[in-house]
Amino acid sequence: MKDKVYIFDTTLRDGEQALASSLSVDQKLRIARQLERLKVDIIEAGFPISSPGDFESVTRIAREIKGPVICGLSRAVEKDIRVCAKAITPAARRRIHTFVGTSPIHRQGLLRKSKEDVLAMISASVKLARRLCADVEFSPMDAGRTEDDYLCTVVELAIRRGAATINIPDTVGYTTPELFAAQIGMLFNRVPNIDKAVISVHCHNDLGMATANSLTAVSHGARQIECAINGLGERAGNTALEEVVMALKVRSDIFKTAVGIDTQEIMRTSRLVREICNMPVQPNKPIVGGNAFAHSSGIHQDGMLKAKKTFEIMTPQSIGLKNSRMNLTSRSGSHMVKSRLIALGYAEKEINLEKFYQRFIELADKKGTVYDDDLVAIMESKSADDMKDAFMLEYLNVSSGRKTVPTATARIIVRGKAFQEAACGDGAVDAATKAIDRIVGFKITIEDFSLTSLTEGREALGKVKIVARSDSGVFTGIGTSTDIVEASALAYMDIVNKIDRLKKFKKRLPSYQ
Ligand code: KIV
Ligand code: ZN
Repeated sequence: MKDKVYIFDTTLRDGEQALASSLSVDQKLRIARQLERLKVDIIEAGFPISSPGDFESVTRIAREIKGPVICGLSRAVEKDIRVCAKAITPAARRRIHTFVGTSPIHRQGLLRKSKEDVLAMISASVKLARRLCADVEFSPMDAGRTEDDYLCTVVELAIRRGAATINIPDTVGYTTPELFAAQIGMLFNRVPNIDKAVISVHCHNDLGMATANSLTAVSHGARQIECAINGLGERAGNTALEEVVMALKVRSDIFKTAVGIDTQEIMRTSRLVREICNMPVQPNKPIVGGNAFAHSSGIHQDGMLKAKKTFEIMTPQSIGLKNSRMNLTSRSGSHMVKSRLIALGYAEKEINLEKFYQRFIELADKKGTVYDDDLVAIMESKSADDMKDAFMLEYLNVSSGRKTVPTATARIIVRGKAFQEAACGDGAVDAATKAIDRIVGFKITIEDFSLTSLTEGREALGKVKIVARSDSGVFTGIGTSTDIVEASALAYMDIVNKIDRLKKFKKRLPSYQ
């Protein structure tokens, strides 16, 4: 049996602390339920003394979540500890996590206390916490910048007073893998009762080294990692749970440890946290970013077609994704395009690859990314005319603002004839798409809307991508303009034209992922 590394999730505490607005009790419960499904070992549910809302969230989570240990945070002061103990009371397995700053900067600048004062606080608080709860964790905050001798004294004292977990936080993300390895090794060598506690680490990502620092600590004996989904947390965030977990799994040959996480729940958890916390994830974020399992270059796509291991060190299925994604662009090779057509349901004998690929490249040069619905449109069109847009947005006027009902008027040329309609909506974009709907008469439901800025400054060019569903399937539309509403309307028109083309072809529809 390999050594277990305990995964302590602090999304609801350190992560939530960093959000623009705090989460409601229900939102926290939804995340906690998913963390339970993910099988984290410990959920740090909040900081009960910090607000009545936080107290209630911790209590509800303690009452309703059964699998993981439910932990509450408290400063090393009596009132915090008592309130924390009360908040976690309903939990079957509960933990008090108490902390105090131990570095010279924190002692002098934040606490204005001497080394002895801080030792007295640690002694009293861990003792009290231990009386109120069998499982106590202690953190010397800013351990990364604490003097070695003093840190050893602090850790030994906290263990003597009954802390079963000692967490070593790099609170300001200042350490490096080499320094952190030395610090953890030093504690194992010098603290006489260190074997009586689990050593934990809590790394912040200010210099982008949180994952590396946490993993190096594991190599030097740490057996708990404090981390957050999508790396949420103060400033640049905490160690990302998905990164350390997958690193420990994928490189188990080096770490030789085990984690209890159900990794197939990672993607679902990441998406839920993004949505509830309103914190998007950068596309190139390891493990859970939109591009983490996407392949763009022709050479990479070719490799993937031949053997997936050529460019993937873990499977998308291992984190709960269905498949890798091949971004079809002008860099994609004809074999990749053909394999995508086959996945969409076309038989090999139907595909005139040379001709198709030529038209694919023309479209890719114009549009950048070619989506499944574009492939179907090329496949089904008999001539270049078939690919022309039947609906052209000629005029759009939108009025919106505070205390006005957003209204839009659109004029569209449909196969040479002009039609005009007006509509109200919940916002400017909603009004514009409703006016377009009235003219074209399709039933379209927007499923995803994203806006990216292509250039900088006030007059930045914005690119809107809309994913929408109609009775003909799922479509992706792109629109670009310096005006966000116009870019949205153009993306919507892109979808309208794709639906129209497919209706005209009246053929089978693609089976999108
Ligand atoms: O970063 C930190 O030091 C903390 C402690 C409360 C553990 O979040
Ligand atoms: Zn922290």
